[in-house]
Amino acid sequence: MSEGAAKKEEKPRKFQAIRGTRDLLPPETALWNRVERTAHEVFATFGFGEIRVPIFESTDLFARAVGGDTDIVSKEMYTFEDRPVGIPDLTAFTDLGEYVAAVESAIRREEIPNTPVNREAVQTLRKKFDDYAAASEQLKPGFSQGSDKKFETYRSFWYQTHFFAGHVQLGDLLSLRPEATASVCRSYIEHGMNSLPQPVKLYYTGPMFRRERPQKGRYRQFYQIGAEVLEAVRPDAAKQDAAKEIKKDATVDAEVIEMVMTFFDRLELQGVQLDINSIGCRECRPKYVELLRAELLKVKDKLGPDSQRRIETNPLRVLDSKLESEQGIIATLPHIADHLCEECAAHYASVKHQLEMRGVIYRENWRLVRGLDYYVRTTFEITAQGLGSQNAVCGGGRYDGLVELLGGPPTKGIGFAIGEDRLILSLQESGKASAQKGRDVYIAWMGERAHATAIRAAKDLRKAGFSVELPPVEQKFGKALGQADKLGAKYALILGDNEVSEGLWTLKTLADGSQAKYTEPDLLEHLRKQKALSS
Ligand code: HAM
Repeated sequence: MSEGAAKKEEKPRKFQAIRGTRDLLPPETALWNRVERTAHEVFATFGFGEIRVPIFESTDLFARAVGGDTDIVSKEMYTFEDRPVGIPDLTAFTDLGEYVAAVESAIRREEIPNTPVNREAVQTLRKKFDDYAAASEQLKPGFSQGSDKKFETYRSFWYQTHFFAGHVQLGDLLSLRPEATASVCRSYIEHGMNSLPQPVKLYYTGPMFRRERPQKGRYRQFYQIGAEVLEAVRPDAAKQDAAKEIKKDATVDAEVIEMVMTFFDRLELQGVQLDINSIGCRECRPKYVELLRAELLKVKDKLGPDSQRRIETNPLRVLDSKLESEQGIIATLPHIADHLCEECAAHYASVKHQLEMRGVIYRENWRLVRGLDYYVRTTFEITAQGLGSQNAVCGGGRYDGLVELLGGPPTKGIGFAIGEDRLILSLQESGKASAQKGRDVYIAWMGERAHATAIRAAKDLRKAGFSVELPPVEQKFGKALGQADKLGAKYALILGDNEVSEGLWTLKTLADGSQAKYTEPDLLEHLRKQKALSS
């Protein structure tokens, strides 16, 4: 086959969106915009301001905040080494000596992180390389592969050098954000928001990334709409009336939950179910966890391998189990509500009372523990209709102490994140995703003079806020009306020679086929009135 023919047959690769990611297209994007617009409106009425945080952050931030042992951090993050320009990896060097020297000098110049791990790694690397260099010097005069024992020693040094080279971390470890609470706390600290009037109320929308097994309602790039309330703890807080503080915190929790419920209500989300729980604090929870562990050990043999493992690592997560065979056993386990300390019990009772005062309907769910480490006291989750197994459309809770854990001042926090993909899915499944409106007006024009008038008419109509489709070529009126129909237009504005000469434009209402003639100002007035009537 000639070179030319081979080239012809080579088909260009078909690119597809990466597994777990997807394109959002019109008309669905109109619904996404409506949902986000509603979030902006509702959250603003509760005094929240928008924050936009970066898509990637230091891996350590998420490990510290969300917890190194959680599924999110240990299995699901997209992490990469952010290498400085000009520091290629070992494979780019043929001379190991040059590589070791390059790494040493880059650490000195702090172009690669001057961390204890790196200093130790480079010291070992230097030692291994010197051993290797000495061995290879000794072996230089004509050794033969495989036959010479010395060759094994030489090869071993070579491998060791490469192995230790792999331990040098050439750049900072960064991760695509799996959630945004950690970033909001980082930002609160970085911008000294504790000196602003407290509490600071922030919300965000945007993509998050988790390497989960994709299925309906579960993606690797998904979108959240979240909100956080952060409040610096006053230095004299300890002296304050503790009961008052507890009531204040519970009120904040209830208002945050009321806000998300108001948002769902505004969107007419169907089958909304709010579950709440208290998982105690650093005082009472460890005691409950120990009790739970002891109880679980008694029934260990009846549990599946995941739950058996969790008895040691995180017994609370056993309560999360969906395994049919474990449900009967879990039902007999002690409830945390019976083991809360006095303050946590008072706080939980107050949250429930505050929710009732706001008319928010909730269900207590003692098994609601959530999969992130930072929660204390209040946790909540909201499910909605039509989502199958991935039916949690929102999750949240209180996270007092998280800001401090990230190096900031003592601060309280409460927030939530809504899974926007699932919210949209539920709205669509329950028929509450009103289809994108078609164009208001389709301009059917014929003839050059009419084209000029059509261009002017389109400009004026768009200025008045109507959506207008102006075809770039003239069409027979029959075809134009068919096209207007396909686009879901409400009206066809018919502009031909007669209309232009008379200054009377024909407006056809596509729903009933009626038509009438208007002067330009009358037409605008008529359309405005109709729009006001239908909205
Ligand atoms: P989360 O429960 O991990 O909490 O996520 C919140 C919501 O994001 C879930 O209820 C779900 O609707 C959605 N979601 C999570 N993973 C996926 C996925 N792979 N595909 C589609 N949707 C997903 C948090 O992220 C916390 N930061 C919430 C929070 C804010 N707590 C306090 N403040």
